[in-house]
Amino acid sequence: MLDSIFSSIKKAAIEVNSLLGKCNFTYLNSTNSTGDKQLQIDVLSNNIFKDVLLELDSVKGICSEEENEIIYKKDCRSGFYIVAFDPLDGSSIVDSNFSVGSIFGIYNNELSAKNLIASGYVLYGVRLEIVIAQSDVNHYVYDGVEWRFIGNLVLNQKGNLNAPGGTQKSWLTNHKILIESLFLEGYRLRYSGGMVPDLHNILVKGGGLFSYPSTNDAPNGKLRALFEVFPFAFIFEKAYGEAIDGKNRLLDLEIDSLHQSLPCFFGSKYEIERVKLAYK
Ligand code: F6P
Ligand code: MG
Repeated sequence: MLDSIFSSIKKAAIEVNSLLGKCNFTYLNSTNSTGDKQLQIDVLSNNIFKDVLLELDSVKGICSEEENEIIYKKDCRSGFYIVAFDPLDGSSIVDSNFSVGSIFGIYNNELSAKNLIASGYVLYGVRLEIVIAQSDVNHYVYDGVEWRFIGNLVLNQKGNLNAPGGTQKSWLTNHKILIESLFLEGYRLRYSGGMVPDLHNILVKGGGLFSYPSTNDAPNGKLRALFEVFPFAFIFEKAYGEAIDGKNRLLDLEIDSLHQSLPCFFGSKYEIERVKLAYK
């Protein structure tokens, strides 16, 4: 049953990819629930994912970064999964022609991290790729005709990339020291401003740290739990890495609202140990 959800997401990804090649990146007069200005491509991508997913018998509802509420199917007795997605992550860098993505999490019956049973992301980059995590993290590329399996993504114990998000002037002192100490150890800066390419880079290169911490002005960070943080936490754990909020495992956390954000750290074992020491 999950396979039909993955097939629909792959179908939507091909459509969004082709739209990205044609569309003007014009802003609409609207904002989403978090107050971000919406591009026309945000709304179009949202509709593409929404339509293909709500057609499926196994899906009882969807929720999206671009929708205020959960949308349940009229006859929601038929399905049991709720798919949460960010239809176009990184839309603030799309006009620079940087890579962007779509992120999704499949929740069994209820939108809670413990009910997440699969997740993944689409990467609209030099080529179109999708990564799907269930028991393993499977990586596929679209060759123009079909999706070809490339391999599993597995993290080493330690990497050498550092992707530090958030406004530096608002970082807490322990965070500043952590990030600086990794650079002093030889870690290299890799940060495009797109969560999907930045985390994909760490997964493909076998390790490193991506952080979007709690700051003075944003105690809950910026990245949204259901659409961004939990799906990537699931992927990193299945790739033998870890994902925490500084102290706690992200997938153990409960949230209070649909669009809640959480501070987050994703990495291989070594870097996450360093985070725990810095935040204890
Ligand atoms: O969805 C939010 C997002 O665009 C992520 O893709 C990205 O990791 C983050 O914001 C970048 O935020 P900032 O511009 O504050 O570094
Ligand atoms: Mg996003």
